[in-house]
Amino acid sequence: MADTEPFTLIEENVTSGGPHHLFDNVADLSSAKTADQDLQYVAALRKANPEMIVTSTPVNNVNLRAFAAAGFATCDLDTETDSFASWRGYVAPSVRSHAGQLGESIHFAKYHYEWSSESFVLYTVGNVQYVLKERVGSEQALGPSHITDKLILTVGEWQASGLNQTVLVYDNYWQRSRDMWLAVQKASWDKVILDEKMKEELTSVVDKFFDSKAVYEDLGVPWKRGLIFGGEPGNGKTISIKALMHSLLFERGGDGSDTQPIPTLYVRNAPQTYDIGSVFSTARRLAPCMLVLEDIETIVTPRTRSYFFNEMDGLEANDGIFVVASTNFLDRLDPGLAKRPSRFDRTYIFPLPNAHERTLYCEFWRAKLRHKPAIAFPRRLCAPMARVTEGFSFAFLQECFVAALLALAREEGGDVLQFRLMGLREDDGLEQYALWRAFKEQAETLRKQIEDSGGDGGEGLGSSDDGVAGAGVGSLQRCECGGSARSQSVPSKEQLSVPESLEDASSLVAGGMLPPLGFGKQRVVNSSAFALV
Ligand SMILES: Nc1ncnc2c1ncn2[C@@H]1O[C@H](COP(=O)(O)OP(=O)(O)OP(=O)(O)O)[C@@H](O)[C@H]1O
Ligand SMILES: [Mg+2]
Repeated sequence: MADTEPFTLIEENVTSGGPHHLFDNVADLSSAKTADQDLQYVAALRKANPEMIVTSTPVNNVNLRAFAAAGFATCDLDTETDSFASWRGYVAPSVRSHAGQLGESIHFAKYHYEWSSESFVLYTVGNVQYVLKERVGSEQALGPSHITDKLILTVGEWQASGLNQTVLVYDNYWQRSRDMWLAVQKASWDKVILDEKMKEELTSVVDKFFDSKAVYEDLGVPWKRGLIFGGEPGNGKTISIKALMHSLLFERGGDGSDTQPIPTLYVRNAPQTYDIGSVFSTARRLAPCMLVLEDIETIVTPRTRSYFFNEMDGLEANDGIFVVASTNFLDRLDPGLAKRPSRFDRTYIFPLPNAHERTLYCEFWRAKLRHKPAIAFPRRLCAPMARVTEGFSFAFLQECFVAALLALAREEGGDVLQFRLMGLREDDGLEQYALWRAFKEQAETLRKQIEDSGGDGGEGLGSSDDGVAGAGVGSLQRCECGGSARSQSVPSKEQLSVPESLEDASSLVAGGMLPPLGFGKQRVVNSSAFALV
């Protein structure tokens, strides 16, 4: 037997008055028989306030503080009659060049809340709010309180209205995106290189729809329509959708006009039937509205298709809902979507840009860079730039500019980078321009990337200029799924660091489209995240 014991005895220290051990509190709390703290809090609040009705409501359902922060109520912190606890942390900047800020996530607080001449006591405990209101008339101690219910309804409607300088976005759950609203505010057709006729047609189809309720009623047909935007990644489906959103939100309902601004519900991700249910029920509630279904092939799958069609065909009325669906996979789209009349009436195809459109896009960049005297960008670079990017999507073109400008920025002040000439035909005099050299270098690199990721040089690269079945960007075709759409050969934008708009691109910031919601002064990332302090 070994002469050493595996464990040494610890003498029990039962003396009181020693240092406080937080561990004991944590262990004590986590050994509770039940984890339903909500019941405990409600019971405690009822006991302490017998004359009041206690109503619990989750923050992510109705956000009372956000409502107050937007100026519709007042919400004064009371640290005199109860305690306060929060996490303080760091909120990263949305743009890397900006400084981060301090944030706070409140876990426990008591407030005096005033709304519509009514006073409430509000406790926030984690993600739950406890609203206390005196009983009125014959109201029972266990509730409900009619005044609190009215407050909840008002805040809920305010949140759901979509017109408070936010856009309702569904990405597995609903969120309100202030950033999307700002992006839509900046979006406009003049930033989209697209056949003018197609721009006009799109705007007027959508506008007319919303102005023609009476006509549809008169004809006895359901007041609903649907469009599909198809085509390879990065050729303008989403920026065109944003331009449409802009015209509906910002160009209607002006002075003297009897039209109303129309909200858009923007769906990025709704893979399950319950997601689809939530999307359509919210759209029905907010109608008239535009419902955008991005990448519809991820929403309508073999598992969800019959549920989707039931929703779309309106077992419940879909009056006033204008649906715009986008896809990269027209040729593989469920035939029930595009080939069945009355669901989606038209398909618009956004093909790869031809040489003329690529030149226009280079001109666009030229205009954007004209305030940068350090970057020599004469007009005569545009056509050669379009030539070395044959087969590129707009998104790849954009990446080419971004990467070239970054390369130039790196070069600045350091050793002059030697650019390979890559065997491309030399254009007299062009080589003197650093931007041209960098652009050509990047174009070559991106071309390899396109080819490596499946481009065969036939269907994808090289097919655009003169072989887009006679269709330039923005060509408009009746739905002929499978016939006109070309197969996928260009990597998706997820494989690129593609900025969302030309504005973003010019600041060389690649990034996601929809950072989270903002409510008034407080920026609520989600119910449990930090609000800026
Ligand atoms: N027609 C266009 N005119 C001007 N810029 C464009 C055009 N198409 C694309 N771009 C540029 O490329 C970026 C990506 O375009 P967009 O998001 O609209 O592509 P998409 O067709 O929606 O692609 P995906 O199928 O991957 O969603 C835009 O932010 C814009 O900068
Ligand atoms: Mg898109």
